[in-house]
Amino acid sequence: MEIVICKTKEEASKLAADMITAAVQKNPKTILGLATGSTPVPMYTEMAKAVKEKKVSYKFVKSWNLDEYVGLPGTHDQSYRYFMNKNLFEKIDIKISNTHVLNGMAKDPEKECAKYEEQIKKAGGIDIQVLGIGSDGHIAFNEPGTSLSSRTGVVYLTPSTIKDNARLFFKGKESEVPTRALSMGVGTICEAKKIIMLAFGKNKADAVKGMVEGGMSQFCTASALQAHNDAWIFCDEESASKLKLRDYYAWRSATKLGL
Ligand code: GLP
Repeated sequence: MEIVICKTKEEASKLAADMITAAVQKNPKTILGLATGSTPVPMYTEMAKAVKEKKVSYKFVKSWNLDEYVGLPGTHDQSYRYFMNKNLFEKIDIKISNTHVLNGMAKDPEKECAKYEEQIKKAGGIDIQVLGIGSDGHIAFNEPGTSLSSRTGVVYLTPSTIKDNARLFFKGKESEVPTRALSMGVGTICEAKKIIMLAFGKNKADAVKGMVEGGMSQFCTASALQAHNDAWIFCDEESASKLKLRDYYAWRSATKLGL
């Protein structure tokens, strides 16, 4: 794991976006794994800026998203399909038919998940997987207690995640948040060739500490990234504040990135 520690989330988002821009410039057929949540939004804005400035094109890029709420159609303003269209897909030149988000309305959710895994495999696997982290250390919707080798499937949200995500739903009501989701598994995520994780703010400091300096455990599913050989964790000073070796990580990653 490389831990990049920036002063601000804007600075970190720009560095992460530059990494994706460079990868797509090098391989225009890059397969991206994408994430939702408020965290990646500034990075998506930077990616769109690079497209507008004609530095890069997503015309041949294909994407697969991490997860989707069960019971929300893509037209619902809290569905992750809707989020992706608004925050990224409509702002870059990607073909919408090349973007994939699990269908939360699927009649047979398990079949939908198996099909999704198959599609990713057929495409040659994810080249770069973007991730955020939940305050309880989850990645995608893989809550504490999920096997670190789990595959894409139906998952159940914890009360703490429902509470965290309620702010985005109608009147901030927890009862509006679906209790189930379709989610890529931890094992599926870790098969990506490269991982770019973003974690910002003091609300993520415990999760970052657990992911980086805790043992690898199903109680912090993000800790599975410890076994990945090309995982980059972009933090701001607040989210990195509880790391014991933060100065060392910051120096090492800055040296590797030539900053
Ligand atoms: C949800 C998503 C995760 C995301 C997390 C954090 O649970 N399934 O992929 O990382 O929210 O969201 P935020 O970035 O808004 O803190």
